[in-house]
Amino acid sequence: MEKITSLAKRRGFIFPGSEIYGGLANSWDYGPLGVELKNNIKQEWWNRFVRRRTDVVGIDAALIMNPKVWEASGHLKNFSDPLVECKKCHERFRADQIDSKVCPNCGGELTTPKQFNLMLKTFLGPAEEKANEVYFRPETAQAMFVDFKNVLETTRKKIPFGIAQVGKAFRNEITPGNFIFRTREFEQMEIEYFIKESEWEKYFEMWLEEMRSWLKHLGVKKWHEQEISPEERAHYSKRTVDIEYEYPFGRKELYGLAYRGDFDLKNHTEKSGESLEYADPATQEKFLPHVIEPTWGVDRSVLVAMLEAYHEEKAPTSEEGETDMRVVMKFPKWLAPIKVAILPLSKKENLSSKAKALYEDLVKTFVCEYDETQSIGKRYRRQDEIGTPYCVTVDFESLEDEAVTVRERDTMEQKRVPITELTTYLKNQFDETL
Ligand code: GAP
Repeated sequence: MEKITSLAKRRGFIFPGSEIYGGLANSWDYGPLGVELKNNIKQEWWNRFVRRRTDVVGIDAALIMNPKVWEASGHLKNFSDPLVECKKCHERFRADQIDSKVCPNCGGELTTPKQFNLMLKTFLGPAEEKANEVYFRPETAQAMFVDFKNVLETTRKKIPFGIAQVGKAFRNEITPGNFIFRTREFEQMEIEYFIKESEWEKYFEMWLEEMRSWLKHLGVKKWHEQEISPEERAHYSKRTVDIEYEYPFGRKELYGLAYRGDFDLKNHTEKSGESLEYADPATQEKFLPHVIEPTWGVDRSVLVAMLEAYHEEKAPTSEEGETDMRVVMKFPKWLAPIKVAILPLSKKENLSSKAKALYEDLVKTFVCEYDETQSIGKRYRRQDEIGTPYCVTVDFESLEDEAVTVRERDTMEQKRVPITELTTYLKNQFDETL
């Protein structure tokens, strides 16, 4: 983890939030490379699960919803963790996350656990009074139920169909930590998939398969499926599977898949007074659809993608027969934040002007970086460290033969490619990996 957090900061993936003010506990900012990586994940997910499917549509709802939503969903009453406090050092812990009966910090006596609600509260409007109390959403899911009727009426979708959303969620976690694993502000990618009750097992399997296939696409290997026991899962769920990952700090949740029955639509119907029933077009029979919910954390996706991509390996240097250690982020090519680096062999005017012209051209098609500082070997290593799949080197020969050297990240193989064919050549390399 230390290697990942330090690389993330050093190379501009993820910085501590508000750092010049001493930071803000467990808040993180995505830097220029991090935002590309995170956007690649969100865009790929959206393309895969919304745009390229005929049975899923998207929404982008408000972060702050009517507080009655959280009454209906049960969050105001039940969305809490057991909190204990050390009577000596006043450190607070989640009772279910510590093994000892005394304070893990100082050995002091702990208070008896009390339920602490994780909803993050604020006020809408200028008066900070009870009537104006609202909450930042703790999950994106509820908007899919609240907007169900509007989506159904405007899209005329037939069951089975899903509503998807990607966006921020907020939880006042008692013990955030482990870098971006558990934070108080994070992003989710969720789908509520509406079905007939009799078909829940079939669609549960379908989404489990989709989640497995996504993990493979993201390059994730160290994951497990954990069936959640009836005692542990929500009372309305007949089956829940957690996708867990072997993080350096232990095996913990990455994603989740839950059968939610008609719990949400039923409660929102009761609390809002609006019928959220669906009329079967063939029989006109009206019923409340049941729901399968696959959910993905965006930040945990970034974390596991970085953990899986990180490699240290021996690589030859420019000196004959010599090797040194290279750090290389072997991201799947679609995921890499920078796709192509353009590197003039030297800073000489005739080379750099040619390389810059190439950069201006390639940047129209790929996310590119231009780098002319230090030796070519050091620049290759820098690109390896951020996972750039292709480096394009402009050398003195390029001035004569109008060709460049393309170096591939993982094999380090180099190939001479004519400049006129470069964009097509690179496009083909990326297409092969889709
Ligand atoms: N709608 C269902 C739901 O929200 P969840 O298991 O509480 O389920 C879904 O959250 C996913 O959101 C998790 O699998 C995880 O990837 C991510 N997540 C939850 N809490 C998080 C936190 N505090 N920090 C970062 N990611 C979190």
